[in-house]
Amino acid sequence: MSEAIARAHPNIAFIKYWGNRNHDLRLPANSSLSMNLDGLQSETRVRFDSALSKDQFILNGKNQSAEPLQRLISFLNIVRGKASLRDHALVESHNNFPAGAGIASSASAFAALALASSKAAGLELSEKELSLLARRGSGSASRSVPTGFVEFHAANKDEDSFATSIAPPKHWALVDSIAIVNEEHKKTGSTDGHRFAETSPFQSIRVEGTQERLKQCKQALLERDFEAFAEVVELDSNLMHAVMMSSQPPLLYWQPGTLEIVQHVRQWRREGLAVCTTIDAGPNVHVISLQEDSDEVSARLQEISGVVKVLTAKPGGPATEVS
Ligand code: PMV
Repeated sequence: MSEAIARAHPNIAFIKYWGNRNHDLRLPANSSLSMNLDGLQSETRVRFDSALSKDQFILNGKNQSAEPLQRLISFLNIVRGKASLRDHALVESHNNFPAGAGIASSASAFAALALASSKAAGLELSEKELSLLARRGSGSASRSVPTGFVEFHAANKDEDSFATSIAPPKHWALVDSIAIVNEEHKKTGSTDGHRFAETSPFQSIRVEGTQERLKQCKQALLERDFEAFAEVVELDSNLMHAVMMSSQPPLLYWQPGTLEIVQHVRQWRREGLAVCTTIDAGPNVHVISLQEDSDEVSARLQEISGVVKVLTAKPGGPATEVS
């Protein structure tokens, strides 16, 4: 019997990953860039035990079956294969933020699971190997392994598709104020969404331009140039949603409250506030600002009628083992 516990933060992508070049291996269609979200986290305990007759998965206190359990078993099979292990596992995981609402719970979940399960299986993986492993559970999870601001390199080969840190959390005092419009579980998850992406006539154009946008975003981030950053972050998010809306079946994650927030933020920026939006596969809006303005941004967001609550997160660290 062997056990390990790990924690990881979710991340918000400034340059989005949408669509795969290989669905089974989750090799992303394009590279992406993100920031880990401090304060929000998944904590996961994995115990491999020869006395267990099957894998068991408890998420936020509830025993899981069907798809979530199957996805966990497939992931554990990869770890068991690497460690030449046959034991089944008990996995207990807890998120301190709402799942399935565009706050990428799968990213922190699989990053924490990659670290906890590999340690519990007796494997000592490098950061690169952990990022490669986390990717097999969820593409964006590869970005929750390294610290701070992170680039996920798209490639044709399994061993080249992993994420690396481009700057530590203290590099730039940004805050993500996440305006929650709806906490319900989204109807179409990203695993299906990635498959639909290639049916959109805009996907190939989006993918083609990503490298240039990533270069611009990385430069703006490294130079702490908010204006340049805001422009490319909003463009990239809008391009992903254009692909989502025009795929077969079409995916429309936006709700009335989503648009209401986007319009307010555009107005605030016109008035001189350094603020911009980015939206993942859900209705909630990630409002990015400088730390010095974040109390003001959060207060303004709370006044918008469609906003249920606001979570705030600073740049976060890497996935860590809890001893
Ligand atoms: O890791 P996945 O399969 O949940 O995909 C993430 C997709 C987006 O959150 C919409 C974009 C991104 O890059 O995080």
